[in-house]
Amino acid sequence: MKEFVSETIMEKYEFRNIRPEETDQGIMIEKICFPPHEACSDKNMKERILKAPELFLVAEDRKTGKIAGFLNGIATDEDVFRDEFFTDITLNDPKGENIMLLGLDVLPEHRGQGLATELMFQYLNRERENGRKKVFLTCLEGKVQMYRKMGYKDLGISASVWGGEEWHDMSYEL
Ligand SMILES: CC(C)(COP(=O)(O)OP(=O)(O)OC[C@H]1O[C@@H](n2cnc3c(N)ncnc32)[C@H](O)[C@@H]1OP(=O)(O)O)[C@@H](O)C(=O)NCCC(=O)NCCS
Repeated sequence: MKEFVSETIMEKYEFRNIRPEETDQGIMIEKICFPPHEACSDKNMKERILKAPELFLVAEDRKTGKIAGFLNGIATDEDVFRDEFFTDITLNDPKGENIMLLGLDVLPEHRGQGLATELMFQYLNRERENGRKKVFLTCLEGKVQMYRKMGYKDLGISASVWGGEEWHDMSYEL
């Protein structure tokens, strides 16, 4: 009888920084994952990949060589999230003690197997090793529980008005 052994996340995906030639993939994945009023613009995504590739973590599907999901952020000494982080890459201070997360994207065909959780886990570990102190993000009410399970604290309603919606501020102490 043939035995089916499910592959682990680490066997299926390689976790690494984004590459400049993957800019179009990053743009496309963002469009698939977020509605237009929430998605990062093509221009802003290009700038992030060009100026702060080390603040991306991508999961590459080892079978296809294509990106299955990614997490990206910006470094700063600030400790309150503001919407300008989404649009102004010049706010990135590579030596900043905190990270503001800007997006967590997993393509639909790769969802439901813990990939977002693994991306977050590895990102937090990497940035802890980089000497960062805290990680901040904003999310809609429906995702608060998901981030709580990943270890984040809900700080309540955010000043962010991104996409005309109500967001929660969440934080993680490294
Ligand atoms: C949200 C998203 C990143 C989850 O990716 P994923 O790889 O399927 O997530 P995981 O398998 O690691 O699931 C982690 C936990 O989050 C929960 N979760 C997953 N998708 C969720 C969603 N859309 N809403 C709320 N909770 C969700 C799961 O129930 C899971 O908890 P469990 O382990 O107790 O079942 C993915 O659906 C996505 O890219 N969505 C569109 C973009 C988006 O909303 N990003 C987050 C913005 S704040």
